[in-house]
Amino acid sequence: MSLLESVDFGTPQSRSEMAVTLQVDGVQVTVPSGTSVLRASIAAGSNVPKLCATDSLEAFGSCRLCLVEIDGRKGYPASCTTAVEAGMKVRTQSDALARIRRGVMELYISDHPLDCLTCSANGDCELQDIAGAVGLREVRYGYDGANHLAAKKELSNPYFSFDPAKCIVCSRCVRACEEIQGTYALTIDARGFASVVTAGQAGRFMDSECVSCGACVQACPTAALIENSVIDLGQPEHVHVTTCAYCGVGCSFRAEMRGTQVIRMVPHKDGRANHGHSCVKGRFAWGYATHKDRIRSPMIRKKITDPWQEVSWQEAIVYTAGEFRRIQGKYGRDSIGGITSSRCTNEETYLVQKLVRAAFGNNNVDTCARVCHSPTGYGLKATLGESAGTQDFDSIQATDVMMIIGANPTDGHPVFASAMKRRLREGAKLIVVDPRVIDMVNGPHVQADYHLQLRPGTNVAVINSLAHVVAAEGLLREGFIAQRCDPKAYETWKKFILQPHNSPEAMEPITGVPAATVRAAARLYATGGNAAIYYGLGVTEHSQGSTMVMGIANLAMATGNIGRSGVGVNPLRGQNNVQGSCDMGSFPHELPGYRHIADAKTRSLFESDWKVTLVSEPGLRIPNMFDAALDGSFKGLYVQGEDIAQSDPNTQHVTQALTSLECLVVQDLFLNETAKFAHVFLPGSSFLEKDGTFTNAERRVSRVRKVMPPLAGMADWEITVELSKALGYPMHYDSPAQVMDEIARLTPTFAGVSFEAIDRLGSIQWPCNSSAPEGTPVMHVDQFVRGKGRFVVTEFIATDEKVSPRYPLILTTGRILSQYNVGAQTRRTANLAWHDEDRLEIHPHDAQERGIGDGDWVGIASRAGETVLRARLSERMQPGVVYTTFHFPGSGANVITTENSDWATNCPEYKVTAVQVTLVSHPSEWQERFRRFSEQQIRLAEARKPVHT
Ligand code: SF4
Ligand code: SF4
Ligand code: SF4
Ligand code: FES
Repeated sequence: MSLLESVDFGTPQSRSEMAVTLQVDGVQVTVPSGTSVLRASIAAGSNVPKLCATDSLEAFGSCRLCLVEIDGRKGYPASCTTAVEAGMKVRTQSDALARIRRGVMELYISDHPLDCLTCSANGDCELQDIAGAVGLREVRYGYDGANHLAAKKELSNPYFSFDPAKCIVCSRCVRACEEIQGTYALTIDARGFASVVTAGQAGRFMDSECVSCGACVQACPTAALIENSVIDLGQPEHVHVTTCAYCGVGCSFRAEMRGTQVIRMVPHKDGRANHGHSCVKGRFAWGYATHKDRIRSPMIRKKITDPWQEVSWQEAIVYTAGEFRRIQGKYGRDSIGGITSSRCTNEETYLVQKLVRAAFGNNNVDTCARVCHSPTGYGLKATLGESAGTQDFDSIQATDVMMIIGANPTDGHPVFASAMKRRLREGAKLIVVDPRVIDMVNGPHVQADYHLQLRPGTNVAVINSLAHVVAAEGLLREGFIAQRCDPKAYETWKKFILQPHNSPEAMEPITGVPAATVRAAARLYATGGNAAIYYGLGVTEHSQGSTMVMGIANLAMATGNIGRSGVGVNPLRGQNNVQGSCDMGSFPHELPGYRHIADAKTRSLFESDWKVTLVSEPGLRIPNMFDAALDGSFKGLYVQGEDIAQSDPNTQHVTQALTSLECLVVQDLFLNETAKFAHVFLPGSSFLEKDGTFTNAERRVSRVRKVMPPLAGMADWEITVELSKALGYPMHYDSPAQVMDEIARLTPTFAGVSFEAIDRLGSIQWPCNSSAPEGTPVMHVDQFVRGKGRFVVTEFIATDEKVSPRYPLILTTGRILSQYNVGAQTRRTANLAWHDEDRLEIHPHDAQERGIGDGDWVGIASRAGETVLRARLSERMQPGVVYTTFHFPGSGANVITTENSDWATNCPEYKVTAVQVTLVSHPSEWQERFRRFSEQQIRLAEARKPVHT
């Protein structure tokens, strides 16, 4: 693929459905009404110079390069700010225009360093291109007048630099920060000649509100804002389009390469999930892929106190297969299992569950989605009939009221948060349901209309009281319900929801949310136009996670907010491929496409294709695997790309279970916390080293493309295939494309998906089959997937995890923008500049009561364990609630979380842990033990004996 991105049309596409025909340089062109003359001219094939315009930003009209002549108009209007009119006759080239454009460029160049040959942007600079295009050969004003050539560079950001000497003050960066990212970190200071781009008050990006999304860097037409990697490594030579491996937004990126080295990752303009935008993780934090900590050879050891021994791939695979067969011989067929990864591709995940079902001969397969979105699967399937979000991201453009529940999009799903903020600036209303004052409540240029600041653990009480108001105040969409929903289930639900105990007034003492606020928010949601719900782990990771998901679906059905653009129920998925790992049959009770393993017809479909007999009983879930390990019946585990020792709740319980295993096989990039308990380490490959697909939160299946060979020699899918072969169940694939063909053959919702189709269409939202050959952006349009939508009674039942005099505070957990999940990737990048430790956020009142100051070390004790972090005093918390992130293993956030879990799916109740917080002076006992164990394991890894010695 060439380095050229698709054409820059100068101004955004008009959404108008009316067409206008005009003539540009004698060529007739038809464009939507509202299109600029600049865009129409470029569409007609004319070459109009421009500097302040780019098609990701609204026209600004400052550079005066795009001037044109229009019949019947005086002077030379700027084509970027002039809208097309029917019958217009436009000329983009004439002697007069050429003279004016050369004059403009002379002025720019007279205040610009003439160092093109040594400039990092040489060959990728619009100023340079346009100087050539307008035929600039001399600068009459000379270079020695007043200029900015000696201005000092701003180098505070670890990923990009700002050189004011190269700035032409076109404001593209300022506008990108406002219009695309919605952060408003940049301004143009002063006026006229003195104008200068400034980040924040002090002019330093790192001291400003900048979130390092990179939008300004992309927008800059010169080398004023440029990636440090380009300065260090030079311009890229070729490009591969691939998909971000961080969050569930699934941004499309151009991996710009020199040989097998990534020079930079640039968000792809044609990416349907991100439309050319990105966040700091996907844009800049890719260096972990070649970090020195990557393990590049397979390793084995008998006991976890032994040093590692590097071995060949063949030895590692044969050893693993031998151990698994030995264990099954001794303890039975069900004594081993596997865990798939939401960080790996669909094809890899599919192969792991196939390995477990076909080669292990049981259904002991589970996935990290168990601990995040398993209630989404259960709740949406039970009510709507499909375990997935209902909309595409672009649906937000038609939303009038958005309700965000238990999600923190600016940190967890930043690119979608920017789309939300854009819609809010256009006038949409916002309701936030969250115990914390997140940025969407009260952030830069965002203000929620209602913030329902509930107590952690009372989601269901809030959703019921919202639905109560809708039902009691006559706001139900009875017509929609009668046509689309199961009448019996609806009547039962209506009776339930109207009961007085569900009213906001009755619930207020439980939720802490003023009844009047709930009533106002319910009215807005039900009557404010298209209303859409977006939710996150603050909904699912509760003892009533599945109940809450069903409560959300009830509310959407009750108000008719489902089945068209602008509405819907949308889980914001955490990891890049959570949706995909669930779709691919990673749960112990489901084959790919969410079909129950007990269903004989589905089973026989897979049996005849896989040529094996499948067990009809669901296997063990992750927590059951831990329990079985502790009771001695589960002895072998294959973990691909998940760090259960850090991510799962009640760390001490997990590590005891891992220690009880006779063969723990970890396939990962790094020696993660789980690998410290492993007997076999199989080095995995990053998203840059393999082919495959990821499925994002909007069911969009996008290609992951290999841009460099696997550092350890094998891609993850190849390792699983080899292991299966060694276990006596050969799998025959030459490429991941063949795996996808098998998935499509066996899974009706994927019937039309293939690598060829994705390459042709860019990406595909499942279901994709003969009735939707190009995929399905919005689900449940004419009828629900399950036929009639089913209302479910969602009685609020308080969690067992209650505050007490001993544990008087509630701890809730979440993420931060710059770090990702257990931090294995982002901790190995310069993102540490923003967040280099997890802290405990505590309200100043709670801190004062305990004599705690900002930065003090505090002990956090729960029924499960104790850890120590530094405190951060924050009014984002409500009194009585404390909060922390979990990106650093030594923080031990999950030492404190308990084994309470969702009643339906066992998703852990991470969001509610009763704790006490006290001032302390030294690390907790667990942290001391963790430190000693980690140091020992790192020594054992460093002392590993190389292969063939
Ligand atoms: S990196 Fe993003 S947030 Fe920072 S100044 Fe640029 S556009 Fe704004
Ligand atoms: S830094 Fe770049 S984008 Fe920003 S005003 Fe200067 S030249 Fe324009
Ligand atoms: S928003 Fe998510 S998918 Fe997009 S660049 Fe950031 S981490 Fe990657
Ligand atoms: S591109 Fe039109 S004025 Fe700059």
